Amino acid sequence: MEVVDFSPIDVEQTSWQTSSQVLSQLRHEVFVKEQGVPADEEFDSADAQATHWIAYGAGNEVVGCARLIDNKIGRMAVLQPHRGQGIGSALMRRIIRYAADTGLQSLQLNAQTHAVPFYEGMYFGCDGEEFIEAGIPHRHMTLSLKRFLDPRVTPPLPDIQSIDRERVVLDDARSFNEQAKLLVSKAHRQIRIFSKNLDPRVYDNEALYQLMLAFARAHAHAEIHILVGNPHLLVQNSHRLLHLFHRLPSRVQIRSLGSNVKTLHTDFMLIDQAGILYNQSSGRYAGYAVYHAPLEAMELLNEFDDMWNHSEPNPELRQLPI
Ligand code: COA
Repeated sequence: MEVVDFSPIDVEQTSWQTSSQVLSQLRHEVFVKEQGVPADEEFDSADAQATHWIAYGAGNEVVGCARLIDNKIGRMAVLQPHRGQGIGSALMRRIIRYAADTGLQSLQLNAQTHAVPFYEGMYFGCDGEEFIEAGIPHRHMTLSLKRFLDPRVTPPLPDIQSIDRERVVLDDARSFNEQAKLLVSKAHRQIRIFSKNLDPRVYDNEALYQLMLAFARAHAHAEIHILVGNPHLLVQNSHRLLHLFHRLPSRVQIRSLGSNVKTLHTDFMLIDQAGILYNQSSGRYAGYAVYHAPLEAMELLNEFDDMWNHSEPNPELRQLPI
C-alpha cells in the first residue's frame, strides 16, 4: 500500500514567560532576518503582557506564532517553508475563538499590505489609508466579533417546527445515510461522530463527504470531531472521512477510542448540540434521528467529550492510502 504522510496543525496558547525563547527565535527568523525589521523594534515591552499562540507542525516542530494585546493581533508569522498550508488560518481561528469567548467585541490589527487578502479571508476589513511601519507598508484592519458570538448563549431560534422535535425511526442503512445527510446539511458549528467502524454504508459516500466539506469550509468555527473504535479499518478502506481529515486538518479531528474508555453507546452523530442520529445496535440498524432535542443532545455531548478527552489521535490515521 502506498501512503503519503500528513501533518496535523496544533495551536497552543502560551505566554512570554513560558515561551519567550521559542517565540523570539521564530519571530527573529521571519521579521528580523527575512523582512529586515530592526530587532529592537521587533521585540517590545508589550510581549510580556500579551497572550501568545504557537503553531506546531509535524513532529511538534514550531512553525508559526501570533500575539494578542487587548484586542490587537500582532506578530503573526509562519516560517517560510510552511506557508500556504493553513497554519496562519489555524492560528487566526484560534485567536478569534479566544476573543469571542472572552467577550471582546472586535479585533484589530495592522496588516502588512501584502497580507491583506489573508486577513480578508478571515473576514477582517480594511479601514484607513496605507501607512509605513518598520519600513513596511501596512493597512489597519478590523473584525467585528458579533457574528462569532457563541451560539450556546443564543436563545433557540423561533422557527423550530414541532416536526423537528419528532424522532424519525430508522431501521436500515439507507435511511441512516439519508438522515445523516439531512442533519449535516443543517449544521452550523459542530459535528461529532462516535462510531466503532464508521460504517461505510452510512458514512462513506460522496454526497455526505461533500456536505461535510461544505460545512467545514462555510463556517468560521466549524469543528468536526470523529471518534472511532477501529482506526485501522479507516486506513485500510481509504474511508472518505479520513480524506476529509487530511484535507482540512485544522477543522476536522479524528481520534481513536481510548482502550480504557467504557461506553454503552454504539454509534451516534451530534449536530450543534441539537440534532442526533442514533444507532443503538452494533449488528444491525436500529435507531432514530431527531433535529432538535437539545437536552438529550447535551447529555450525549458530555459523554462524547468525556470519551474524546480520554482518547488520542492515532498515528496510523496520518497515513492516507492512495
Ligand atoms: N498574500 C495573499 N494571500 C495570502 C498571503 C499573502 N501574503 N498569505 C496567505 N494568503 C492566503 C492564502 O493563499 C490562503 O488562501 P486559500 O485558503 O484560498 O488558499 C489563505 O490566505 C490562508 O493562508 P494560510 O496558509 O493559512 O497562511 P500562512 O500559513 O501562509 O500564513 C502569513 C500567512 C501572512 C502569516 C504568512 O505568509 C507569513 O508569516 N508571512 C510573513 C510574515 C508576515 O508578513 N506576517 C504578517 C504580518 S501582518
